[in-house]
Amino acid sequence: MPVRQSCKLVSKVPVGPNTWQFVLEAGEMVGRTFRGPGQFVHIACGHSRLLRRPISVCACQADVPEDLLSVVFEVRGEGTAWLARREVGDSLDVLGLLGNGFQMERGGRYLLAGGGIGVPPLYGCAQFCDGRAVAVLGFRSAQRAILLEPFGKICEGAYLYTDDGSLGKQGYVADGVRAVLDKDKNFTAILACGPKPMLRGVAEAAREYGVPCQVSMEERMACGVGACLGCAIPMADGTMRHVCKDGPVFDAQEVDWNA
Ligand SMILES: Cc1cc2nc3c(=O)[nH]c(=O)nc-3n(C[C@H](O)[C@H](O)[C@H](O)COP(=O)(O)OP(=O)(O)OC[C@H]3O[C@@H](n4cnc5c(N)ncnc54)[C@H](O)[C@@H]3O)c2cc1C
Ligand code: FES
Repeated sequence: MPVRQSCKLVSKVPVGPNTWQFVLEAGEMVGRTFRGPGQFVHIACGHSRLLRRPISVCACQADVPEDLLSVVFEVRGEGTAWLARREVGDSLDVLGLLGNGFQMERGGRYLLAGGGIGVPPLYGCAQFCDGRAVAVLGFRSAQRAILLEPFGKICEGAYLYTDDGSLGKQGYVADGVRAVLDKDKNFTAILACGPKPMLRGVAEAAREYGVPCQVSMEERMACGVGACLGCAIPMADGTMRHVCKDGPVFDAQEVDWNA
């Protein structure tokens, strides 16, 4: 059962252009509802708006003594602009933790593939791996790159790609995934989060190299708990699945990439 909680904003740091990292005190939310890295919270953005906005958990800690969770978000529209105007000490109406998260084995070794604002939830995966992770991170340009230092510190290796070549290698995340797998396929799975074209490219690379792959899908959401049809996506077997409740993480082979 998700917990609805008034969460105090205890830290607010800019991490990129129009991009913020918030740390929230989440009561017992993490302890009661954590299933794995890659889950998300649904935050009410403004008192007059009905809809909450889904934001992935970047990292979380239970019992410190309040549970703490951090989120990183980019201002896209009205809701996230409202969120970015909150200040330390303000309280947010948060529902969480929602969704399934990535399925990870203790002791497993993972290849993390993140693009843009899809990078933050993979930080929780890197923490879970205890150093046994390689990250391929992609951004549009150097100016948009986020969380490079934290990933560099806790991963075995971190490879950086930008669309325009202004930082790291020029190219896309799927190119980086192929470059890693060419030399080393010894991964329990690839875990990917980012825009759909990037996920499709990573899923193709995973299939070619025979490495299992999980993808975190993004879809517009309303209820966030499986009670409406707002976030349904088609699967390869012709069925529809809810991103909020059945996902957001799916086996890459289950997704209908042509939809
Ligand atoms: C499971 C999940 C996890 C997410 N995690 C993060 C995160 O960690 N950090 C982050 O910055 N964002 C994340 N998002 C995206 C975030 O929810 C949207 O950016 C936000 O809802 C936009 O709200 P808004 O009111 O600011 O913009 P709106 O005015 O609602 O929309 C602004 C623009 O963004 C597009 N948009 C809005 N929501 C989505 C969506 N869900 N998918 C694709 N396009 C969308 C709209 O079509 C429009 O073009 C996540 C989305 C999902 C579904
Ligand atoms: S947002 Fe309502 S079912 Fe997913």
